[in-house]
Amino acid sequence: MCAVHLIVSCYGIRRSWKRLLDGHCGIVNVKERDERFAEQPCQVAAVVPKGSREDGGWMASEWLSRGEERKMAQFAQYAMAATEEALQDADWKPETFEQREATGVCLGSGIGNFDEIYNTVVAYEKGGYKKVNPLFVPKLLINLGAGHISMKYRFMGPNHAATTACTTGAHSIGDAARFIACGDADVMVAGGAESCIHPLAIGGFARARSLATAFNDTPESASRPFDADRGGFVVGEGAAVMILEDLEHALARGARIYAELKGYGCSSDAHHMTSPKENGEGAFMAMKKALKQAQLRPSAVAYINAHATSTMVGDAAENAAIKSLFLGEDGKEKASDVNVSSTKGALGHLLGGAGAIEALISVLAIHENTMPPTINLERLADGFDCNYAPKDPQSRQIDVALTNSFGFGGTNSSLCFSKYS
Ligand SMILES: *[C@@H]1O[C@H](CO)[C@@H](O)[C@H](O)[C@H]1NC(C)=O
Ligand SMILES: *[C@@H]1O[C@H](CO)[C@@H](O)[C@H](O)[C@H]1NC(C)=O
Repeated sequence: MCAVHLIVSCYGIRRSWKRLLDGHCGIVNVKERDERFAEQPCQVAAVVPKGSREDGGWMASEWLSRGEERKMAQFAQYAMAATEEALQDADWKPETFEQREATGVCLGSGIGNFDEIYNTVVAYEKGGYKKVNPLFVPKLLINLGAGHISMKYRFMGPNHAATTACTTGAHSIGDAARFIACGDADVMVAGGAESCIHPLAIGGFARARSLATAFNDTPESASRPFDADRGGFVVGEGAAVMILEDLEHALARGARIYAELKGYGCSSDAHHMTSPKENGEGAFMAMKKALKQAQLRPSAVAYINAHATSTMVGDAAENAAIKSLFLGEDGKEKASDVNVSSTKGALGHLLGGAGAIEALISVLAIHENTMPPTINLERLADGFDCNYAPKDPQSRQIDVALTNSFGFGGTNSSLCFSKYS
């Protein structure tokens, strides 16, 4: 379908990848950040640390001018940094009109600028119209992440922003590939970004009974995909961006190719707002469609980066779907030969950014022939008998990887990447 270059989260995907393999966890207690967290059942989140880029931290001034910073929501700021790193790695600096016209952006967010709405509502309530910042609307709109990227780099191709909850990042990448496949662009900046670690946002997810609440004193153990003691997800923030490029275009300019995007499958539960269908038919439609488009059999898939967020129902449903697709005639004989991990134990759940960072991780898994670990996996319940790479990464030839993203509203998507040779 198309070639893939880099890839970067705002704090540097290479650093994140290394820390992921070393078993680090980015989840912390956030009581100090805002005292209102203290009354809440969930006080943990995966926060982008403040600090210099060199130390793996975030300092807006290293990436943006004062004017840019003032105009942009936090999620858009992260997206700008991720884009800068990705474009540098891909060595794509379009200068001519034709090159700029052939370069587009597809980047979304799940929630967008929650802080801005909250602060403006409070200010408006107290002070009325005169308290409304002229930048309120532009800082609110989710598509301004993509908008700012196109303005900064003067990309005049398609400019698009999906917002499909936790499937946003995967949809952005898949849709970007389709823009290329349909001839709308040669190169697309694609990804997702999120930053909503606000007590009201976290409180909302807690009220929906989605979050881990039993680990406020041991935040590193809070997100435990597939583990018997899992009890909900942990909200994370950040951005991830990859550069997708038409294969011939990439070859013609001698670009470094990390992997090929072979398949993109989308499906819908048509069932419930927040709960997945427990089992049953169609449980694996997104994965099946991605493989169909890639023209690959399940047995070809060496690594599955699961959506698994560490919720009771979600992880079990995905595990069942994976087993029904990957075991049997076209797949593997034994569940222990199905290699699946969830990186959310370490990263938390980046919501609209999750599908994008997990796509990058799947591409790096192929590029480095390494399956990243599922951390905090200590006790497996019945039915969880795949190979989840508990705690430690595993080295093995990985030619094909699949990555899943499922979102509230029952929207599911799966991307299939393969080694380029
Ligand atoms: C979507 O994903 C959920 C979670 O794994 C699964 O239960 C559901 O069956 C999937 N739906 C489709 C249509 O793929
Ligand atoms: C999964 O990993 C195991 C153990 O390394 C290996 O034997 C098996 O072939 C792998 N499965 C696939 C589909 O690559």
